[in-house]
Amino acid sequence: MKLDIPENIAEIVPYPPGKPLEELEREYGITDSIKLASNENAWGPSPAAVEAIANVLTGLHRYPDGSSHYLTRALADWLDVDMAEIVLGNGSNEVIEFLVKAFVRAGDEVITSHPSFLMYQKFVQVRGGENVVIPLREMRHDLAAIAGAVNEKTRLIFLDNPNNPCGTLISRQEFGRFLASLPETVIVVLDEAYVDFVDPEERIDVKAYIRNPDGIPAVVALRTFSKAFGLAGLRVGFGIMHRQIADLLHRVRQPFNINLPGQVGALAAIRDPGHYEQTLERTARGRQWLSREVERLGCIAYPSHTNFFLIDVRGDATRLYEAMLHKGVIVRSMKAYGYPDFIRITVGTEAENSRFVAALADCLAESGYTAGN
Ligand SMILES: Cc1ncc(COP(=O)(O)O)c(C=O)c1O
Repeated sequence: MKLDIPENIAEIVPYPPGKPLEELEREYGITDSIKLASNENAWGPSPAAVEAIANVLTGLHRYPDGSSHYLTRALADWLDVDMAEIVLGNGSNEVIEFLVKAFVRAGDEVITSHPSFLMYQKFVQVRGGENVVIPLREMRHDLAAIAGAVNEKTRLIFLDNPNNPCGTLISRQEFGRFLASLPETVIVVLDEAYVDFVDPEERIDVKAYIRNPDGIPAVVALRTFSKAFGLAGLRVGFGIMHRQIADLLHRVRQPFNINLPGQVGALAAIRDPGHYEQTLERTARGRQWLSREVERLGCIAYPSHTNFFLIDVRGDATRLYEAMLHKGVIVRSMKAYGYPDFIRITVGTEAENSRFVAALADCLAESGYTAGN
């Protein structure tokens, strides 16, 4: 075999393959581990979604509806937009990929922040585009520096809002000023994977920008069923955008990108607002409780508009992560993101949160962190 590997592909660092939970438990000799590492919904999917999925399993020999008609219609009603302004993806990840495929040629530039969601840069690399990476400033997107980095080669700007991993938010005013400072030729992608957890008063009015695009760059919002709706395993996300952009993204997608369980499960989840609202309420309560408890232990809890937040453990975060793992509590070390003393945790159920706090207390004491506690 003699492979002729394109340079841009050879340079890609593979996504670190996470081990299945069962393997991790065997390796560490633990049972009943809890995972607070991936910003998932701790309370599970809506029972209505589970039932809807169960009801279509005997129809799996058929291809799904390639237009995801009923799901798209339900989303359009829920969000008060047109069906032609929605594009569904296999997770919002896939809509990111569509955007890069549709708009980025080799050598074009795409602006992202660091740290932020890692997949933007990966798709750009695959396409042979150039990533222009702007560091966060005080844990927030540095909009002035981003605007300053725009040139005639810039095609897309990705802003996760709220930001992952910091949980910080761009205000409506900041976003309006930012758009006004940009050339109309770029597309600004607001990745709103966690927007459900944001106070409605503070959410950016994406629809207004999509409907009134004159004189400003196009805005695309990305949403997902993986977080507040508790359906990460189904892989359904979507984008809201001007119909002309949607038309282009439909040209680059596979015809059956949303599978049958995904279509009916997501549809049932939208029709179960009780589950969604309960998730938001429990998340807010859990985040408050956890923040108070970790501060009591001498750590610093950072405010967040999401279902996760950063904790400064005042010592090496990766060592602490390992120690927590031995106690069956899986969190995320932020060392690789440039915050060597920080962990990120996702809000869990009350029982999981209590177990996390107890394990953290033990590990901090064993590690000798947070002197004075
Ligand atoms: C900021 C951000 N965007 C997008 C995603 C991916 O979402 P999906 O599961 O819809 O592909 C994540 C997942 O963690 C995320 O943190």
